[in-house]
Amino acid sequence: MQFLKNNYGWLLVILVGILALLPLYSMLNSAISEGLLTTEGKKALEMSYHISGEFSIRWMTAVLTCTPFFILFGVQNLFVRQAMGIATAVWSILHFVIFIVAEGFLETFTQVNYIVGFVAILILIPLLFTSNRKSMKLLKKKWKKLQSLVYVAIFLSLLHVFILEKTWLIYAIIVSVGFIVRIPIIKNKIIQYRKK
Ligand code: HEM
Repeated sequence: MQFLKNNYGWLLVILVGILALLPLYSMLNSAISEGLLTTEGKKALEMSYHISGEFSIRWMTAVLTCTPFFILFGVQNLFVRQAMGIATAVWSILHFVIFIVAEGFLETFTQVNYIVGFVAILILIPLLFTSNRKSMKLLKKKWKKLQSLVYVAIFLSLLHVFILEKTWLIYAIIVSVGFIVRIPIIKNKIIQYRKK
């Protein structure tokens, strides 16, 4: 019980991350059983792109709101952020794997938006493997520099979605508000106000 009390944050992230796999599984299942060349199969495949893409960008946006959330409310949980980071990378890789299986790896290099997404995924891979305390201690100052590549990843991901003409603005707004909150003068004002 004490374990649950202390760890409910990241356990919740993992639960949501895994539960969202169910609709994805069901879509992929119907895409395969209907056949990828039928209208129904194509629709199911489109839904799989939609679900996996949306969850990738949602998790990435959520990771980037951790620091602004801390500044605004004074609550920080490194394990929750780590779990969100893992969910971001896993969902993005899943999104790409579905693409490879459906269209083939080389298809990635046929459109600018896919290439942009691909670079974002290439960035997420080292971030996934270094999002732990051991790497933090090992890389010291370089760790922060490496992790700040997540800003490049969100920019590329938003560009990918923007070119595809899908929902991007809401994520861009949330991330931008987060950046405003981080500006040192604003950040200090918020912290002072909170401490009153
Ligand atoms: C090699 C990398 C990637 C490839 C090949 C790829 C491919 C695709 C494809 C084929 C679609 C569906 C397009 C359509 O319905 O017209 C899509 C949609 C999407 N992708 Fe990616 N993607 C990649 C990386 C990413 C990354 C890194 C993210 C975000 C973290 C992302 C987020 C999205 C989103 C949000 C959508 C729109 C979903 C919707 O609303 O329907 N993608 N992607």
